[in-house]
Amino acid sequence: MLSEKVAVLLNEQVNKEFYSAYLYLDFSNYFEARGLDGFANWYKIQAQEERDHAMLFYQYLQNNNAKVTLEAIAKPDKVLDSDMTVLKCGLEHELYVTGLINAIYAAAYEDKDFRTMQFLDWFVKEQGEEETNANDLISKMELFGSDPKSLYMLNSELAGRTYSAPSLVL
Ligand code: FEO
Repeated sequence: MLSEKVAVLLNEQVNKEFYSAYLYLDFSNYFEARGLDGFANWYKIQAQEERDHAMLFYQYLQNNNAKVTLEAIAKPDKVLDSDMTVLKCGLEHELYVTGLINAIYAAAYEDKDFRTMQFLDWFVKEQGEEETNANDLISKMELFGSDPKSLYMLNSELAGRTYSAPSLVL
């Protein structure tokens, strides 16, 4: 049985993850317009992963007999005026999401809600990976972004990212 507080936070996270998907789709859209199809691919797959995250929270709530309430998804509000801005917005967003996951974890810990803590362990690890990915992209762009040939190669590398379903199955 989830406490009211934990259930509310988990329900809010459904919306936050769908917003993340929407935000990354906007990033993909930005790079598509720039003609950088590899970057567009990378963020489109990131959007798919975020949608998966939303569905995991949705399913976890239902599996625990908690009602899911779907709220409006906000419009992506980042001003994307350069390639580096997009990458930095991505890192900033992941740090924000890590804070959200940690806050749910803290609430579950307070409740001795070990089931929710175990569920969230996967997300704690995932956030670590996503922060690393976002940081790596920024480092590569700092190194290679100003040289057209290197940017082309980086774009080709990112074109190789393929979707895989989350390792967490509920
Ligand atoms: Fe679902 Fe990137 O956090």
